[in-house]
Amino acid sequence: MTKANNSKRIGVIGSNMVDLVTTIDRMPRTGETLEAPSFAIGHGGKGANQAAAAAKLGAAVMMVSRVGDDVFGAGTIANLRDLGIDTTHVAAVPNTSSGVAPIFVDANGDNSILIVKGANAHLLPADIDAAASALLRCDLIVLQLEIPLPTVYHAIAWAKANGKRVLLNPAPATAALALDRIAGVDFFMPNQTELSILTDLPAETVAQAETAARRLLAAGIGTIVVTLGADGALLVTRDAATHIPPVKVRARDTSGAGDAFIGAFAARYVRDGDLHAALTQACRYAADSVTRPGTQKSFATRQEFDRL
Ligand code: RIB
Repeated sequence: MTKANNSKRIGVIGSNMVDLVTTIDRMPRTGETLEAPSFAIGHGGKGANQAAAAAKLGAAVMMVSRVGDDVFGAGTIANLRDLGIDTTHVAAVPNTSSGVAPIFVDANGDNSILIVKGANAHLLPADIDAAASALLRCDLIVLQLEIPLPTVYHAIAWAKANGKRVLLNPAPATAALALDRIAGVDFFMPNQTELSILTDLPAETVAQAETAARRLLAAGIGTIVVTLGADGALLVTRDAATHIPPVKVRARDTSGAGDAFIGAFAARYVRDGDLHAALTQACRYAADSVTRPGTQKSFATRQEFDRL
């Protein structure tokens, strides 16, 4: 367990998954059986990954989440507790499977992910209300899209009504996301694919990403950070666009790198609100994570990160 190093708290309202990670030489064709080099099971889910990264870096983190009542549920909660995350509001849903994510990692370290939401689909607006007193003690609320959209909208509305800062990672992206329901978020952090799906604009180059991000700013979102993978990140505000340069590493497995970025950003940002320090830490932490396989288990602890 990592001991929290400051009194600022992060509330992550989001998913847990069990990652079923297969390394592949290539994807099989329809009807083909193909041997793959290796397989591993790990703790994942975008919400839990982001909570894990922040907790490993020493932040005080609580989660609002749902697990299945199957073989995976208890282990998922135990893992969060081992990381020092407050699991008071993580509960099992009867007669429901845990979320699982078959992940395929190719020889370049690039990944393809399927998700089965399972219990994550049962995190409801009423669960946010039930966790309200704990969420009131948080300084930043972090959300993703592996839980039902009405729950995301309710959490944003609750957070804004209670003066809380909100970070929304629109992953996995869905064109069903209603921009008018998320207009109050303080930080919106898509990757290039997600930005493109949400705006229906290309976002492959830095210039394209800035244009697409500006479309979202016009919809009322406060600050946008586009994660650019090996190219770093792009901060877009009404006044300026700032490219945060990448940290060059040899990628072994990029799964969960976006989550490492967001957890590391949140952990640094809640300390004193220094946006640029938080983005610098996020880029470095995410880059380091891709040098190791897996999602949560590839995230460095505070001590490991400080040694880099
Ligand atoms: O962002 C990576 C995560 O996406 C994986 O851990 C998987 O569980 C899916 O949620």
